Amino acid sequence: MTEVVGKVFVFLLVVLVTFLWVGHAITRLTGGEKKATGSVEISPEGGEAIFWGKGRCFTCHSLGERGSAVRCPNLGVWGEKFPLPIGLRAVERAKERSEETGMEYTATDYLVESLANPSAYIVEGYKDEMAVVYAPPISLTLDEIKAVVSYLQSQGGDVDIEALNNPTEVSKKFYDRIKAASAAGGGDPGNGEMVFFESAGCNECHAIRGEGGRIGPDLSAIAKKGIKYISESILQPAASFTPGYETYTVIKKDGKEMYDEEGRKVSGVKVKETDEYVEIALDPESIVRIQKSEIKELVIDKNKSIMPEELIEALTVKEYQDLLAFLLLQKGEKD
Ligand code: HEC
Ligand code: HEC
Repeated sequence: MTEVVGKVFVFLLVVLVTFLWVGHAITRLTGGEKKATGSVEISPEGGEAIFWGKGRCFTCHSLGERGSAVRCPNLGVWGEKFPLPIGLRAVERAKERSEETGMEYTATDYLVESLANPSAYIVEGYKDEMAVVYAPPISLTLDEIKAVVSYLQSQGGDVDIEALNNPTEVSKKFYDRIKAASAAGGGDPGNGEMVFFESAGCNECHAIRGEGGRIGPDLSAIAKKGIKYISESILQPAASFTPGYETYTVIKKDGKEMYDEEGRKVSGVKVKETDEYVEIALDPESIVRIQKSEIKELVIDKNKSIMPEELIEALTVKEYQDLLAFLLLQKGEKD
């Protein structure tokens, strides 16, 4: 009898050990509970490695006595200038930010903002010189930024991973900014906005939230169309047309194409049409009004967009990535 019980026991033990071993092997093969290889653990330890490594924070910031950088704010306790470590300092700064913006900032929101949009708040006595750490060359991912924030929290404050994984409305906007930048190959949306409104002049034809021209489609909600569509629209404007923004060529009563006074073919976006006339925009400055009595027909030219192809050639690769990051933030929501 006892022999049978003993055998069953040994059998069960073998089954159990095999089960555990197989489970362990599978966990190892699939990378276990940790995420895919290369991803960082969202913890102060994970963040510490980034702060003193890939994130290059140490090239500008010291932490109390640790580190040798002196030209940017010390993130630990440092003389009279910094009586509080950054984890506690963030609580004070959050109050300031809440007053300035009228939104409810938590200490975590402040820390996330200081990395996602460093120009929003400039520490007194310093310049707007903080690196955009999710853009090249540093290119931190959102998880790496969360890890760094938890490390900053751990400097005198409360480590709150929960708050990092369930962002407030304030942090959610910053997360979007970082994700858009990562999706666009690490572009800097702040610089992309300058490219859009200044260097590339996209705003001559396109408006975003009420600012800009009208002869191209409004881009306030362009993010919804996705990076592939957006990038193709910029690189090859004539590849696909936004409905309502096709290029029209005017055919006169005699069957010939119409030319304007400067000898340019009248071909462009139809910006207005009444019973008597149509208006065709050749470019933002040249809108031609033509009486319908002169026209035989309007023909859609599928091979040509008034959006210039050369625009993109004038941009550097970085400016293009920055522009994409900026456009991927345009989700049609109010700021
Ligand atoms: C090129 C130098 C540079 C790098 C790299 C840099 N920073 Fe900064 N940082 C600054 C400067 C300058 C300021 C002060 C101006 C400002 O407030 O934007 C600042 C401000 C901050 C603040 C706000 C401090 C306060 O007192 O409220 C935090 C937090 C911060 N940086 C964290 C980081 C972290 C984390 C990294 C690495 C992922 C990093 N910084 C990388 C230059 C840098
Ligand atoms: C001269 C006017 C003009 C300029 C300048 C211009 N565009 Fe356009 N853009 C258009 C027109 C017209 C269309 C619609 C026809 C088409 O798809 O080509 C368009 C289409 C687009 C679309 C697709 C929109 C949609 O909803 O389908 C995107 C994205 C876009 N442009 C981005 C840009 C960017 C970024 C710049 C600056 C680098 C720029 N455009 C400069 C006229 C312009």
